[in-house]
Amino acid sequence: ARAAVGAAAAAGVKHMAHRFIVGETPQSALRVLRGLWNHGVASSVDLLGEATVTAREADRYADRCTDALEQIAAASARWPTRPELERDSAGPIPRTNVSVKVSALTPLLRPDAPELGKQDAAQRLRPLLRGAAALGAHVHIDMESLDSREAVLDLVLELLGEREFRSGPSAGMVLQAYLRDSPDQLTRILDWTEGVERASPLTVRLVKGAYWDHELVEARQEGWPVPVFEVKADCDRNFEQLTRTLLDARGRVRVAIASHNLRSVSHAIAYNRAIGGEDRDLELQVLRGLGDELQDALATRGFRVRTYCPVGDLVAGMAYLVRRLLENTSNDSFLMRMSDGAPLDQLLAPP
Ligand code: 2OP
Repeated sequence: ARAAVGAAAAAGVKHMAHRFIVGETPQSALRVLRGLWNHGVASSVDLLGEATVTAREADRYADRCTDALEQIAAASARWPTRPELERDSAGPIPRTNVSVKVSALTPLLRPDAPELGKQDAAQRLRPLLRGAAALGAHVHIDMESLDSREAVLDLVLELLGEREFRSGPSAGMVLQAYLRDSPDQLTRILDWTEGVERASPLTVRLVKGAYWDHELVEARQEGWPVPVFEVKADCDRNFEQLTRTLLDARGRVRVAIASHNLRSVSHAIAYNRAIGGEDRDLELQVLRGLGDELQDALATRGFRVRTYCPVGDLVAGMAYLVRRLLENTSNDSFLMRMSDGAPLDQLLAPP
């Protein structure tokens, strides 16, 4: 029976992968990206691959990013005009948007030597930023597990502060609300924006964070204090507080709220309006395959939505798929509770 079980499991994995991954190559993803755009939805392409172990692998990842930037820029130049997706009050917003992971850009990203990983990744990130600036594209640097956060944050702030990159490209980073010290990180980011005049403000994508199980297990194993909120309501409250701080700082940063939690998204929209912000100055982000319904509902109502679209093969995507599986099988997950039929007033209650 092994062959039959194997075939059934393979079919199941491929089916799941197909839902979350938009194509094996940027070329094969273009049709989906164009389809989203036609429906009033922007995208960020995530080249799957992370935790590289050799320099060659990291070089290959950087080449894939360059290739994706070029292909998407060439194709998206032919897309129809979508004023609501292409401009906010800070100015033009690039059509081409790529998300990269620093652990894919260097095999040397280790918590005991953050400087080494940072310098090695910088060698590959600089040409990417140059390429994106020439193409008028946006580069977003993802956050990963806590053991690389110091290196990633330092890398992003240092590179984007360099004179060469002040005029471009448009760029962004990620803030993970499940980390107890995320408010301090945000203070650091906002302080940085005070001293660095960039042509387009830094985009900050606020997320809950995708490495919760990893952080919890590692901390328990090592006997460290747990760095993430263990009670979901605490994390949701922090997410809302960070949303308000970010929106209060709009102009200095572009705000992207990435969540499938209807309460968190509604809170961002409501707070932005309450402080006199325009809807176009708030970007809402979802993950392909998870936030599709929310994406359509928000786009239909005229909000600026960006869908995170992974591109790559099944092996490169395995860690990504496992993170989605863990999130969605958690009983606390908003989507899980919603599909279990929890009433809307409970789902929308303040955390
Ligand atoms: C992840 O790779 C979505 O960036 C997030 O899990």
